[in-house]
Amino acid sequence: MATLLLALTILSLVAAGIVAGHNVTITLLDSAVARGAVCLDCTPPAYAYSPGFGDGVDNWHVYLEGGGWCRNVAECLDKTGYHLGSSAKLMSTAQNGVTFFGGMLDSNSTFNPGMISDFYNWHVVKIFYCDGSSFMSDVEDVDPKYNLTYRGARIYDAMMDELLRIGMGNAKNALLSGGSAGGLATTLHCDKFQSLFHNTTRVKCVSDSGFFIHGEHFYGADWRESFFSRVVSTHGLTDMLPTSCTSKFSPTLCLFPENLVPDIQTPLFLIESAFDAYQIGVTLFPDRSPQWTSCILNLMLCNSTELEIMKDFRLILINTLKSTIANSSSRRGYFVHSCYLHGHMEDISSSTCSLIVGNGLANKNIAEAVGDWYFDRSEFQEMDMVNNLPRNCTGDDRPILEKKCSDYYIHHQMP
Ligand SMILES: *[C@@H]1O[C@H](CO)[C@@H](O)[C@H](O)[C@H]1NC(C)=O
Ligand SMILES: *[C@@H]1O[C@H](CO)[C@@H](O)[C@H](O)[C@H]1NC(C)=O
Ligand SMILES: *[C@@H]1O[C@H](CO)[C@@H](O)[C@H](O)[C@H]1NC(C)=O
Ligand SMILES: *[C@@H]1O[C@H](CO)[C@@H](O)[C@H](O)[C@H]1NC(C)=O
Ligand SMILES: *[C@@H]1O[C@H](CO)[C@@H](O)[C@H](O)[C@H]1NC(C)=O
Ligand SMILES: *[C@@H]1O[C@H](CO)[C@@H](O)[C@H](O)[C@H]1NC(C)=O
Ligand SMILES: *[C@@H]1O[C@H](CO)[C@@H](O)[C@H](O)[C@H]1NC(C)=O
Repeated sequence: MATLLLALTILSLVAAGIVAGHNVTITLLDSAVARGAVCLDCTPPAYAYSPGFGDGVDNWHVYLEGGGWCRNVAECLDKTGYHLGSSAKLMSTAQNGVTFFGGMLDSNSTFNPGMISDFYNWHVVKIFYCDGSSFMSDVEDVDPKYNLTYRGARIYDAMMDELLRIGMGNAKNALLSGGSAGGLATTLHCDKFQSLFHNTTRVKCVSDSGFFIHGEHFYGADWRESFFSRVVSTHGLTDMLPTSCTSKFSPTLCLFPENLVPDIQTPLFLIESAFDAYQIGVTLFPDRSPQWTSCILNLMLCNSTELEIMKDFRLILINTLKSTIANSSSRRGYFVHSCYLHGHMEDISSSTCSLIVGNGLANKNIAEAVGDWYFDRSEFQEMDMVNNLPRNCTGDDRPILEKKCSDYYIHHQMP
């Protein structure tokens, strides 16, 4: 789905005579194998690195890829059949051994501008996700029957050592971000990431579509809890989760960001849709009816009951987020919009063009909002309080909006 949308974005921009994003070579971290830091299928973990340049040479942006979780042997085995469980599969499906850096990972200032071209010239590292546990597992024993290895936390540590080796430790500015399961991983690893740097380094984290709510009294709550409980047991996470949370809640509840975010010491920014397409589409009605299926695939087909459910979901998400922020020791930034989406940072039209698609909050797109917050130009706490129904922001007029977007950037490009 996300890949399809990305492909459509690139196509429509190419049609408008515009080339956004760039290709970056994928590297296998073979040295990680010796310490057992491997994907579910025992292959070495992978990353892609695009060096910084100009006045960005002292700045590092590390992005954790997402891609769901696996909650039992069968599901983890299934992941080894493609890139989310196997770097061998990643390499065999990546054309020419490259991966695409778009949106806020793009090095072209035209498309990754921020107010004062904040992030385009940073060192950018994408860490591929192949452990099914949001980079949290560390089980010594190998599953005897299928040779599955649960080592996400070791992958994270091995990657950080590699980045320190190539110079990240001297960063003036550092940003850990991630989308979806990678957004949850960002929340879970944020303080550990901060501790890698000198106390003079500005270190912050951005969780993109990683605010998976418990919604205790709402549809699917039992399923969500049971899902995370099985992730915890399959990946042996009980002792891996932050003790600041497990001292108060069960390990299962410590995978819900509402119970994690308040104790994080490092500045954290949340990017969310109040109508998160994954949470609405997958975790409200896991055994969905044909009618609900047609609704989540095409909002025009939702009936009035379903729209009421979506309105209620929005209120619960917004209230959970507000109360989480209110309970947090340090202030948080956030950008909560109403497009029916999941994942923004890697996508030009939802991160850097979102102002133009009429989704601007404080008249900013997501890249500008994150830039303002990162560099302390504003606290950026903005929520769309006007639209209480999900908006289809990837509809028929998307190519037209993207043309407007690229024209806008070309005319507003910073020198
Ligand atoms: C950035 O994109 C614009 C528009 O496609 C293009 O003209 C320009 O050459 C690109 N810049 C770089 C450094 O690739
Ligand atoms: C990136 O690589 C893909 C696959 O090799 C290719 O189709 C595409 O044109 C490349 N894009 C850019 C911007 O170089
Ligand atoms: C597991 O690994 C061992 C040792 O490398 C090998 O002999 C065995 O065939 C593997 N089993 C499976 C199911 O791949
Ligand atoms: C930063 O660390 C140095 C040396 O460890 C210490 O002297 C200084 O007080 C610290 N500064 C802050 C703001 O914590
Ligand atoms: C709307 O769809 C739901 C299933 O998602 C169904 O249970 C309900 O009966 C439908 N309501 C109307 C008014 O058609
Ligand atoms: C958004 O609009 C497009 C084009 O009309 C349609 O194909 C797609 O199904 C819509 N998406 C949703 C979630 O409604
Ligand atoms: C915030 O704290 C209050 C009081 O301790 C608690 O009742 C509430 O559940 C907390 N909110 C979240 C989202 O954790």
